[in-house]
Amino acid sequence: MLDAPVAVPSAPTTDEKLLAQALSGKHLIGGRLVPARSGQTFPVVNPATGEQIGTAALGDAADVDAAVQVAAAAQKDWAKMPARKRGALVAKCAEIITAHVEELGRLIALETGKALRTESRVEANVVADIFAFYGGLGSELKGESVPFSPDVLSVTVREPLGVVGAIIPWNVPMLLMALKVAPALVAGNAVVVKSAEEAPLAVLRICELLNRVLPPGLFNMLSGFGPDCGAPLVEHPKVRKVTFTGSVEVGKIVATTAAKKMIPVTLELGGKSPMIVFDDIDLARAVDGAITSMRFTRQGQSCTAASRIYVHEKVFDAFAAALAKRVDAMVMGDPLDEKTDIGTIISKEQFEKVSGFIAEGKATAGATGRACSAMPTDPRLAKGLFVQPHIFSGLSKASRLVQQEIFGPVTCLFPFNDWQAVLAEANDSEYGLAASVWTNNLQVGLRMAHALEAGLVQINQNLVVQANLSYGGVKSSGLGKEASLEAMLEHFMHKKTIMVNMA
Ligand code: NAI
Ligand code: MG
Repeated sequence: MLDAPVAVPSAPTTDEKLLAQALSGKHLIGGRLVPARSGQTFPVVNPATGEQIGTAALGDAADVDAAVQVAAAAQKDWAKMPARKRGALVAKCAEIITAHVEELGRLIALETGKALRTESRVEANVVADIFAFYGGLGSELKGESVPFSPDVLSVTVREPLGVVGAIIPWNVPMLLMALKVAPALVAGNAVVVKSAEEAPLAVLRICELLNRVLPPGLFNMLSGFGPDCGAPLVEHPKVRKVTFTGSVEVGKIVATTAAKKMIPVTLELGGKSPMIVFDDIDLARAVDGAITSMRFTRQGQSCTAASRIYVHEKVFDAFAAALAKRVDAMVMGDPLDEKTDIGTIISKEQFEKVSGFIAEGKATAGATGRACSAMPTDPRLAKGLFVQPHIFSGLSKASRLVQQEIFGPVTCLFPFNDWQAVLAEANDSEYGLAASVWTNNLQVGLRMAHALEAGLVQINQNLVVQANLSYGGVKSSGLGKEASLEAMLEHFMHKKTIMVNMA
């Protein structure tokens, strides 16, 4: 009985199925959970079982207009509130999220198929950290004094942009939403988020929780599909900034609309991130790095996934064998089971896409694709979108698997023996999001760090996004930065110059 009305729990719950039902069929507009103006909904499915767990409101231009109008009204008072007070309220949001980490982890595992222990709970904790970080930055919205002449005081002040439209994907929806919403709010903006059609419920729960603290209308959430709900949000005349994470293809559409409206846009798009392993590094450490970098625990559904791994020829075979052995030992299974390392792919569409890449790689002459780990045997998971991680070698540079973002548990290994040649190979990509270099030779490591075309280069580590480090790519990987103080100041505010003639 998915359509039976269930009250939204006011206290944290570990009944993720009930929570999914309670949040079904709703947007959050003006502080209230409301159905779509059209009354229509679409199904939300658990990718580990194929079961429908709830519905989401099918948003369109009428819902977008309603949300943007209330956001624009709420933003006026919010912008007048002292910045530190805004920060204090955002810090309170972190407290509420912390109290709900377990339920948010369970709900996101249910709707995305990401394993609770390795991915989903971790994501919920990072979301709380992002709100806590930005909550402390209210007093940092500073401008400058600019030398002009002794009789003229010339200063810059930073002002919010107005209503921010945020469009998010499904791979780490809570975290990517937090990276947009927390800085936008502290900066004095109001936000309308369009969630991803595959994962609308956990982000809606966060929005509902935060609306208990924030003034109504400031943070609104719409669910729906890209062309019908995302596009009208970008086009709405009162939306004065758009921040988008997703595919390059849609990023270009968003940027084109933003250019026509003459509004700023931040784009966090795909990647094909290289990892370069030299023969002087402890192999076990590099293998650990490859496991984390490739985000095997997230089925490789990460824009920074180390999907091209270049290994010095002297250690290539040993590295390939050790990596396969480590991935073999990872457990694929029920995302909500604490023993599970790897859950499922998000949707049938992505499943087909990833499976197509794997089949193509396997059919390529001269290439081998080693399937790792084991498919779950639990009959309840028979319809689950599980894909065995694949490690390919012997592919040519021209292969689609090497050039395109697969967004699945597929990595390609290549041997090298010359650091300048491998640098050129690593940079031979349309993308430029992240890269890592593994060597104890500081000279080589630093030269490569400077020469790699990427927004983030790590030497001898590969950590996930941190709230205080700015993050964003070059080339087709996007425009602008997310996370950090810089992202809030440069991308959610504009600078006004004020001059006072004292003569
Ligand atoms: P997508 O770019 O179609 O969807 C991302 C978001 O954009 C969703 O909320 C979607 O509803 C919205 N959207 C779609 N069309 C729109 C439009 N015309 N106007 C405004 N909003 C629109 O990505 P999708 O289809 O989910 O995944 C396709 C590929 O994109 C993946 O295989 C992966 O390669 C890449 N991707 C990259 C992500 C990243 O973290 N950079 C995240 C998700 C996908
Ligand atoms: Mg799409």
